[in-house]
Amino acid sequence: MQLKRAFFQAFAWSSLFDLVSGAPVSSKNSSSSQTSASALPSVADWATWGVAQVPNVLNATAADANSLAKGYRVVKSHYTQNGLEAKLKLINETNIYGYDFDSLTLKVEYQSDNRLNVHIEPTDLSDVYVLPEHLAFKPKAESEFYSFSNADLVFTYEKDPFTFTILRASSGEELFSTAGNPLVFSNQFIQLNTSLPLNHTITGLGESIHGFVQEPGSVKTLFANDAGDPIDGNIYGTHPFYIDQRYDTNTTHGVYWRTSAAQEVIIEEEALTWRALSGVVDLYFFSGPTVKEVISQYVHEIGLPGFQPYWSLGYHQCRWGYSTIQELDEVVKTFKKFEIPLETIWSDIDYMDSYKDFTTDPHRYPAKEFKKFLDTIHDDHQHYVPIVDAAIYVPNPNNASDNYTVFESGNSSETFLRNPDGSLYIGAVWPGYTVFPDFFANSTQEWWTESFAEWYKTIEFDGIWLDMNEVSSFCVGSCGSENYTQNPVHPPFVVGSSPTSYPEGFSKSNKTEYHSIESSISASSASVAKTASSSSTATSTSSATLDSKNTLETGVGNINYPPYAIYNWQGNYDIATHDVSPNATHADGTLEYDVHNLYGYTQTNATYNALLEIQPNKRPFIITRSTFAGSGQWAGHWGGDNNADWQWMYFSIPQALSFGIFGIPFFGVDTCGFNGNSDSELCSRWTQLSSFFPFYRNHNVLGAISQEPYVWSDVTEAAKTSIGIRYSLLPYYYTLLQEAHTTGLPILRALSWQFPEDRSLRAADRQFFVGDALIVTPVLEPLVDTVKGVFPGSGETEVYYDWYTQEAQDFEAGFNETLDAPLGHIPLHVRGGHILPLQEPGYTIHDSRKNPFSLIVALDLDGYASGKLYLDDGESVNITESLYVDFIAEGHSLTSAAYGNFNASQPLANITILGVDSKPSNVTFLGEEIDFSFANNTLLVTDLEDYTTGGAFAEEFVLTW
Ligand code: NOJ
Repeated sequence: MQLKRAFFQAFAWSSLFDLVSGAPVSSKNSSSSQTSASALPSVADWATWGVAQVPNVLNATAADANSLAKGYRVVKSHYTQNGLEAKLKLINETNIYGYDFDSLTLKVEYQSDNRLNVHIEPTDLSDVYVLPEHLAFKPKAESEFYSFSNADLVFTYEKDPFTFTILRASSGEELFSTAGNPLVFSNQFIQLNTSLPLNHTITGLGESIHGFVQEPGSVKTLFANDAGDPIDGNIYGTHPFYIDQRYDTNTTHGVYWRTSAAQEVIIEEEALTWRALSGVVDLYFFSGPTVKEVISQYVHEIGLPGFQPYWSLGYHQCRWGYSTIQELDEVVKTFKKFEIPLETIWSDIDYMDSYKDFTTDPHRYPAKEFKKFLDTIHDDHQHYVPIVDAAIYVPNPNNASDNYTVFESGNSSETFLRNPDGSLYIGAVWPGYTVFPDFFANSTQEWWTESFAEWYKTIEFDGIWLDMNEVSSFCVGSCGSENYTQNPVHPPFVVGSSPTSYPEGFSKSNKTEYHSIESSISASSASVAKTASSSSTATSTSSATLDSKNTLETGVGNINYPPYAIYNWQGNYDIATHDVSPNATHADGTLEYDVHNLYGYTQTNATYNALLEIQPNKRPFIITRSTFAGSGQWAGHWGGDNNADWQWMYFSIPQALSFGIFGIPFFGVDTCGFNGNSDSELCSRWTQLSSFFPFYRNHNVLGAISQEPYVWSDVTEAAKTSIGIRYSLLPYYYTLLQEAHTTGLPILRALSWQFPEDRSLRAADRQFFVGDALIVTPVLEPLVDTVKGVFPGSGETEVYYDWYTQEAQDFEAGFNETLDAPLGHIPLHVRGGHILPLQEPGYTIHDSRKNPFSLIVALDLDGYASGKLYLDDGESVNITESLYVDFIAEGHSLTSAAYGNFNASQPLANITILGVDSKPSNVTFLGEEIDFSFANNTLLVTDLEDYTTGGAFAEEFVLTW
């Protein structure tokens, strides 16, 4: 029942928004007509529709593998020095969704005190894809000999049928148990079940748009997919990892299935079922026992997040539709005119020559003007990030002037994906028929690096935005093989028609704006309704049916139409729809079927290497759409094509928290919304919410109305306030970036991680912490001027201070407080017990870094607080100079202790101490009595510059009061 509700909700939202935006988010609702501006032939509409599949989870008559399969029995086993090895034999062949393997090898490794690996693979590996170590880190045993008495986790098993259980050693608690369910292991279908305790709290398993906790009824499809942020559908990335937070025992563990296969996970009241369509079982259990420890243990094993450059914390502006260099320049100037800080200006595909990677349009973005523009923004210490798409245009061989050297050089060095017969796999993306770099081929890195290096000679970018790398293709199969001589062709749907949707509440909260366009909204809504009905007819006439194609096959199996149909969020559910097809073949013979989820990941890695080659000691800045476990080593991520509406603003919070779990803490979403028109109320609220996300970018779709923060005066003010707060917190954020890079800890933190003993917070995802010190309570709905929020432990163990008034709040633990939140105000509180390093904000990060520091000391109920600061030059890869400062306040005294050799020459200006009981009789700094002011339990000392001329932290200081 619950399952059905989830699906219904997902359909309802997604189809509405795909339609009204007209954006190429999914072929499900796309129309075959072209933009009138285009005279190009189009990729045929029929080429975009896959074969109709009935996803197994929607098929009431589908065979249930759990009740039919007989499983395996252990025929031989022996203990090893760090675990166990066994041979498993199939009890009875059932071949439900693939041919069962007869004989399996089980290997259990106690890898460390907090990590245990269960690996099961067919004894004969000839037709099995085993994810190699060079592609994705494989966690290793710390030693060949393990002293079992130290283990946090214990593996136990039953022999006939084979089932296994993972226990927590200290309590005997069952963490994962397949007892009662058979292991199903065939060439195209592997299934494991674990029981879960009632009222479980499962998080992780991405990427999808959903609430933070995976409640019973959730179906998570783990298959990289270019779809415009449908609720509960599979989207760009794949993260086969979940966290199981247990309130009864106040312990948490994590489970990672290291596989690149297409997967599906079903969460029920008391069970979790995990299916994969190829590969082997390679499970890693992390014992925590706190949530933060689980995340850190996991992220250490998949690859710690890369260290983002300091400037990446600035405000980023982007849109699809900055059609000329003059327009781009105008945007930069308008930001300045309105005194809204702008750190980085981005280009979408508009800058390209006919949407070809590594080119610039000679008329709209002429090289000379482009260079002048880049020189100016660089002189002003601003940055530029262009988009690069995964697909490479295939020039028309019948047209000599269509020459494209990037393709020619890639083709001659055999860097593109192929069809099984060895010919080029040719799909279709923005420029027309395209090929796709094969990052498994030995020659690809060199070609990719050279393409960037060559391009960099004319376009001095500061970072790269990787898009369409799921890898997306607008037609099914190698549709261009017979057709590429028509190139260039237009995509098979309307690109960039003007959206007619506005956010919920628009007609009331943005009355004036609404009235001025009221008639055009109703006129275009009528035409949308028409398109909607015609496109739903198109869906129902699609070709074949499930049973005709989804047959069992031996060997690697029926990879185009696997017998088990996953719930893939695309028209007809075919896994080839809007994606490069499963039979595309990599240079080493690997089928895309087995590694589809790694495309963006391998491309991101190659891009990171390319950028390092171009500027060896500058941290590469990359934002990528498709991610896999470990992508955080090289890139941050944005949440993809969300909608300009309130629900998606809310969903950005659980999405950000989930990406923290996935080791990609540098995360943000398209602020103010991508698809559809935004409005001033939504954009104002969203601009303030996003200002607390590590990655802070405003971006929208071609054809939608402008939404830069200067478009509406309310948003201008909201942006200035929030960017001001963010920039003053830059030293705090940078310290968190460094912490994420060295420990794997997320920057944004769920309330349930901060207060793991409080079950009432298990699903709290409308508020979040930044680090441990700040809690943000954003308004997530229209037409209100208050917001509710919880402040755990308030008045009992905790105290919270209002950021703006600096006063301790009279909150009550467990109570849903109502906070004032008029438009332009985002409630922000500092949790007592923390010290925040700040710096006076400037227009750019460069300017801000030249300003004096200050500190906010928020005392807890015992008069104690601590904090830290990390600094370096903000961009080096090989960091030779760094500074670590620890702050402690207790017993009416604040001390700083610094170590390291980075010279932070800016002085310290102010120290503000919150929660001081009574006015002190005197205050000293470095032993000297100094002036101070005191009001409402806040002690403020200013003008410390004279004492810290050598740099704020050059000398250890003591402040007493
Ligand atoms: C899809 C991306 O998700 C979106 O951000 C971008 O604007 C379009 N592609 C066009 O490049």
